[in-house]
Amino acid sequence: MIDPAGPRIRFVGGKGGVGKTTTAAALALRLAREGRSTLLVSTDPAHSLGDLFDTRIGDRAVEVAPGLHAMELDPEAEVERYLDQVRENMQGFVSPDMYPEIERQLKLTRRSPGAVEAATLDRISHLMADPGEGYDVVVFDTAPTGHTLRLLSLPELMAAWTDGLLRHRERSDSFGDALQRLAGDELSYIDQVEEGKGGDPRSRKIREVLLERRRRFMRARRLLLDPQTTAFIWVLIPERLPILETARAVETLREFDLQVTGMVVNRVLPEGELGSFLEARREREAPYLEEIEERFRGIPTVRVPLLEGDITGIEGLERMGEYLGAG
Ligand SMILES: Nc1ncnc2c1ncn2[C@@H]1O[C@H](COP(=O)(O)OP(=O)(O)O)[C@@H](O)[C@H]1O
Ligand SMILES: [Mg+2]
Repeated sequence: MIDPAGPRIRFVGGKGGVGKTTTAAALALRLAREGRSTLLVSTDPAHSLGDLFDTRIGDRAVEVAPGLHAMELDPEAEVERYLDQVRENMQGFVSPDMYPEIERQLKLTRRSPGAVEAATLDRISHLMADPGEGYDVVVFDTAPTGHTLRLLSLPELMAAWTDGLLRHRERSDSFGDALQRLAGDELSYIDQVEEGKGGDPRSRKIREVLLERRRRFMRARRLLLDPQTTAFIWVLIPERLPILETARAVETLREFDLQVTGMVVNRVLPEGELGSFLEARREREAPYLEEIEERFRGIPTVRVPLLEGDITGIEGLERMGEYLGAG
């Protein structure tokens, strides 16, 4: 999974706490060491990349090692940015007396469950299509969930994208009507433009925005579905819940004809003298390791031992990176 000549987009997923961020960072560092200019992107609001590299990392890529840049997306800020865009789009479609209603809806949307994911996805699709700065590889410390994959898999349904973000029980009927029009208009506008019919100048801008987004989503989907371009690496530990979660992830990807391309079994208790407490644990771990082998047969897998102490800094990541091997 380290293969420097491998896919230029790599998603690292797994249950919280299993070592996703550490694995993504160790992988990215190794790729950079192999001479590939690498961008590491985290969407974890806990922002642990900064701690790992002992430096402030934000929304803009900063160099954390030679050939390695890192960036931490701020999901809340992504929502604001995205809603600003939605506001602008909506205002192009409805009469000014609807503006207060738009504001009210955006306020509700900001707190709705899908908002963070949708806005983050918007940003990810940008980075997938064009990471900029001539990066050879982009490593995402974030799992594409079923919801994300579905959104990406249906870029034609631009209306669903907008509507999904704005869907809310408290939506008033008149707003619903406006949305309905927007949904219809989006598609017909896009069709008009694609058929070269032009349209009125007032809505040229909005059409451009919609077209750009649609193209970007289609591109992101193509990239996601192309195994030459995108790899999905799953991290788990030899315990029951992470195994179940991984099985679900493998299944979800399969629904989209995608494969988990590599698996990292992390925190495996090392061989040798461990003392009675850890030896008892190692005995409990053994059947889980077997289960992993059986369930995920055919997926290239590496094992990373439980290392002493937390893994931080370049040195720690290099130590972890050694185990990621060439598999
Ligand atoms: N193989 C390992 N050995 C020892 N500690 C590890 C190992 N892998 C991860 N850790 C530690 O476990 C903690 C959680 O790892 P992290 O990568 O932040 O998990 P996640 O991103 O999945 O939530 C961190 O403190 C990290 O240093
Ligand atoms: Mg993490």
